[in-house]
Amino acid sequence: MENKISPSILASDYANLETELERINASDLIHIDVMDGHFVPNITIGAPVVKALKKVCDIPFDVHLMISNPLDYAEDFANAGADIICFHIESESDTEKTINKILSLGKKAALAVKPKTEIDAVLPFIEKLSMILVMTVEPGFGGQSFMEEVMPKIEKIREINKDIDIEVDGGINEETVKIAARAGANVFVAGSAVFKAPVPNEMIKTLKDNARL
Ligand code: DX5
Ligand code: ZN
Repeated sequence: MENKISPSILASDYANLETELERINASDLIHIDVMDGHFVPNITIGAPVVKALKKVCDIPFDVHLMISNPLDYAEDFANAGADIICFHIESESDTEKTINKILSLGKKAALAVKPKTEIDAVLPFIEKLSMILVMTVEPGFGGQSFMEEVMPKIEKIREINKDIDIEVDGGINEETVKIAARAGANVFVAGSAVFKAPVPNEMIKTLKDNARL
């Protein structure tokens, strides 16, 4: 299973996004956190910013929608250049319809679960999904501590499906990446760990190496 690092630009300098993307050009994916101030108590960026970034970056975009109505916005993000569109099973949109919409737009569909959501909730949809995002913090903010107690959810999906990408998001650093990898995750989001490092590309390499340990 290929390990991928997906730095979250939530922790980057929003005044200089183009140069921030250059500092992480060793990454496999770019994780873009979209928050609507309703599904989560924070507002970040929307489709126009994704569109602008797409013009200056060739790395695939992993767009994490923390919004109440992903079905209504999937098309905007697809048109803006999202490659993977990930939405929350706890959102208000119909899960099946939203997945079908994303697939009809020619994009990869991913489903995210908050720490308290049972992983069984995603199982009926697994065949259509490219990736499952198991949140390792409560969504809404960067810089929180990794919740090791959600690891059994990762182990359960990995047991059922050996091929699907399993992404972890929240509190990933040089140490916690090993715990998540051992549980069966292979896509690692890291915001603070990457952007607070003196050389972000070196941290990306370290995270990738440590995911193999
Ligand atoms: C949290 C976001 C994460 C966040 C991770 O709601 O989904 O992607 O940016 O940040 P760190 O790596 O700092 O925990
Ligand atoms: Zn995220």
